[in-house]
Amino acid sequence: MLTTPPTPKIQPADGKLGVLTVGLGAVASTLIAGVELVKRGLAEPVGSLTQMGHIRLGKRTDGRSPLIKDFVPLAKLEDIVWGAWDPFPDDCYVAAQRAGVLEGNKHIEGVADALRAVRPMPAAFDRHYCKNIDADNTMGTVDKRTMLNRIREDIQRFREQHGLSRVVMMWCGSTEIFIEPGPAHMDLESFEKAIDANDPTIAPSMLYAYAALLENCAFNNGAPNLAVDTPVLRKLATDLNVPISGKDFKTGQTLVKTVIGPMLKVRMLGLAGWYSTNILGNRDGEVLDDPENFKTKEESKLGVLENILEPEKYPTLYGDVYHKVRINYYPPRGDNKEGWDAIDIFGWLGYPMQMKIDFLCRDSILAAPLALDLILFADLAHRAGLGGIQEWLSFYYKAPQTAPGLYPEHDLFIQHTKLKNTLRWMMGEDQITHLGREYYEEE
Ligand SMILES: NC(=O)c1ccc[n+]([C@@H]2O[C@H](COP(=O)([O-])OP(=O)(O)OC[C@H]3O[C@@H](n4cnc5c(N)ncnc54)[C@H](O)[C@@H]3O)[C@@H](O)[C@H]2O)c1
Repeated sequence: MLTTPPTPKIQPADGKLGVLTVGLGAVASTLIAGVELVKRGLAEPVGSLTQMGHIRLGKRTDGRSPLIKDFVPLAKLEDIVWGAWDPFPDDCYVAAQRAGVLEGNKHIEGVADALRAVRPMPAAFDRHYCKNIDADNTMGTVDKRTMLNRIREDIQRFREQHGLSRVVMMWCGSTEIFIEPGPAHMDLESFEKAIDANDPTIAPSMLYAYAALLENCAFNNGAPNLAVDTPVLRKLATDLNVPISGKDFKTGQTLVKTVIGPMLKVRMLGLAGWYSTNILGNRDGEVLDDPENFKTKEESKLGVLENILEPEKYPTLYGDVYHKVRINYYPPRGDNKEGWDAIDIFGWLGYPMQMKIDFLCRDSILAAPLALDLILFADLAHRAGLGGIQEWLSFYYKAPQTAPGLYPEHDLFIQHTKLKNTLRWMMGEDQITHLGREYYEEE
């Protein structure tokens, strides 16, 4: 039998919570403006599980279903203090306008003061990792050791200036070029040496992640670049007992894929091909137009189906799936992405069928609530003494981080159940297994 570990003791969410976003683009500005609007009662936090979700406790007949935010001691939105880094010098007010996600009169002007107050610190930035960004609010062409030290100083200053109790770092920066874990990422000694040698396999996202861990800040990664997902930083997060999670917000097409994929699988329907194409015209789309940056995204998007469908166990159904993902930069659409899926399936006796899904979504409107939940849950995990990979936050990611050798769980509803069971465990409530024999036992 598997045993449940003892319930952790959770420190109260006293004091202010600092949130440092790496990148102050579409997602970060939509997140910040949204939280400021919600705080003032000017909008609803639609899409956020921490703000709107309920959790069932005990038996179905018990009638106990509190809001998650009333059940677990989350930080209050009023206690959040924002900070950011970005190579563009625009404050959050300008960034929100430039991103073109929110309607100015409706959702920017009412919180203009709060947005103006978030001014990006010079970024640890290197165009080698992100060629399509051309901006100069950066630390300049300094070596990697200097970048690391400056990020650490920025965090310390932010903490002191605002008298913060805790700080969470949230990567909302651009997707960097594809880097595979290599010798520099294996242990602290090699990692430190590689920083001193300005090794090209040490990307800025890794320096931010390393600085976060050293400064005791939980780190979440909304993009597919490695950042904290290397052996050295995973181990360090565990050793220092700092929560980490990633990678890549699961917002549009992959969200759909992790619902439809499991549906085909549980019904034992076969899959011949899945063609996914996207058009989007925001800065993210522009960055992903570069093949080296797209490769990072592609890896994160492609892995999902294979894990869900397990072709090695079901070669007849899934042994020969043609899976293709394209992202096309198309400026007229701005942040309003269109994701088409052409899905070729087969049923009883092999008869072919097709599904077409056309998701006309708003990228950052889908991503912002995920970023908020990740910030609040990472802070909760930190106060509960949970360090290292937070697999229960897989719910939010396209490429969830897992312990080495463990395959990730991609099915959205398994992820959701896992998240809620983790909250129940944290608060000393029974796990819900859905066995349900108790409803049919003799009275
Ligand atoms: N919006 C979504 O639905 C979604 C879903 C999944 C993942 N993502 C990822 O989230 C990230 C942010 O998306 P976005 O739409 O806000 O993009 P964006 O281009 O609007 O914003 C990213 C910002 O990061 C900044 N940046 C780049 N390198 C940096 C560095 N080293 N330090 C500090 N800032 C840096 C850029 O200047 C830019 O302003 C992207 O990597 C994207 O791929 C977004």
